[in-house]
Amino acid sequence: MKKKKISKPDLRVTVGGLRLQNPIIVASGTFGSSDEYANFVDLDRLGAVITKSITLNARAGNKSPRICETASGMLNAIGLENKGVEYFLKTNIPFFKKYTTKLIVSIAGSTVHEYERLAHLLNRERRVDALEVNISCPNVKKGGIAFVRDVHQSRSIVEQVKKEFARPVFVKISPEARDVEKLVHEVMKAGCDGISLINTIKGMAVDSKTRRPQLGNITGGLSGPAIKPIAIRYLYEIKQRFNIPVIAGGGIMNANDALEFLIVGADAVSLGTANFVNPQVSMEVIEELTKYLKEEKIKSVRDIIGTLTV
Ligand SMILES: Cc1cc2nc3c(=O)[nH]c(=O)nc-3n(C[C@H](O)[C@H](O)[C@H](O)COP(=O)(O)O)c2cc1C
Repeated sequence: MKKKKISKPDLRVTVGGLRLQNPIIVASGTFGSSDEYANFVDLDRLGAVITKSITLNARAGNKSPRICETASGMLNAIGLENKGVEYFLKTNIPFFKKYTTKLIVSIAGSTVHEYERLAHLLNRERRVDALEVNISCPNVKKGGIAFVRDVHQSRSIVEQVKKEFARPVFVKISPEARDVEKLVHEVMKAGCDGISLINTIKGMAVDSKTRRPQLGNITGGLSGPAIKPIAIRYLYEIKQRFNIPVIAGGGIMNANDALEFLIVGADAVSLGTANFVNPQVSMEVIEELTKYLKEEKIKSVRDIIGTLTV
């Protein structure tokens, strides 16, 4: 029997209790404060925005140079530069109130208490739809990947954040964890609503002329197409083992990459480095995904999720 033509495929997904109009999300730290991108992107067409990680107090970040290009990717060592939560609440929240896109606020801290305070302050602001708890930044001296490598601390962070924040909480992890599956098990037990993966992987590059590291911080986080197979592998292994909501990304540059993650089981996907290459990439991926579903006569993007055959 011939399949019926689909005029308008359904792109809606739900991840960790958060309903999105489509699965395309812009990743933390790669979309400015969103206002810079508002001229290129219709923010209201995105599934969600994940903001740059904010901390309790302002942070100056690391010494420059902070980014460098690598084969099929980039290294960054921004070091969580941001103006702190008070500034975010005063300046960024009013900006987001002009839009309806789902807002996931990324938080980072150097102690469990800092995460708890951030969750408390952000819980008061109804515009914040969800939190992404960044416990895997490779570019800070305190906290960062030390947390993702310590399941007890990770667990405490999630427990405290969940006590303070009443809406969905995602935990952002990376392969820097000693045992990714154990970590996922523990943070889910602690009550998080889903996992976000993968954050950048620590790397290093050298300038052969000066014989110095290319980054002021010496090491940085690797992102872009170079890490895509690693991200897909972790997504696959986690989805095999646990039935949990996942926002997945790492090297997604186009709709075909996004489809690979959805097929493996991502409930939504995040685009990071791609935004630097083409600020309109998120819009193009939504359009291409719609076109793909129409051409394949698939009614809903949900009919693709987790359909990998091995
Ligand atoms: C310049 C830059 C800044 C980033 N800042 C953050 C951040 O503040 N918080 C965070 O959780 N991840 C941050 N990330 C990681 C991205 O959100 C994303 O997880 C990672 O880059 C992998 O996805 P991609 O390959 O699509 O870029 C940053 C990445 C880049 C390239």
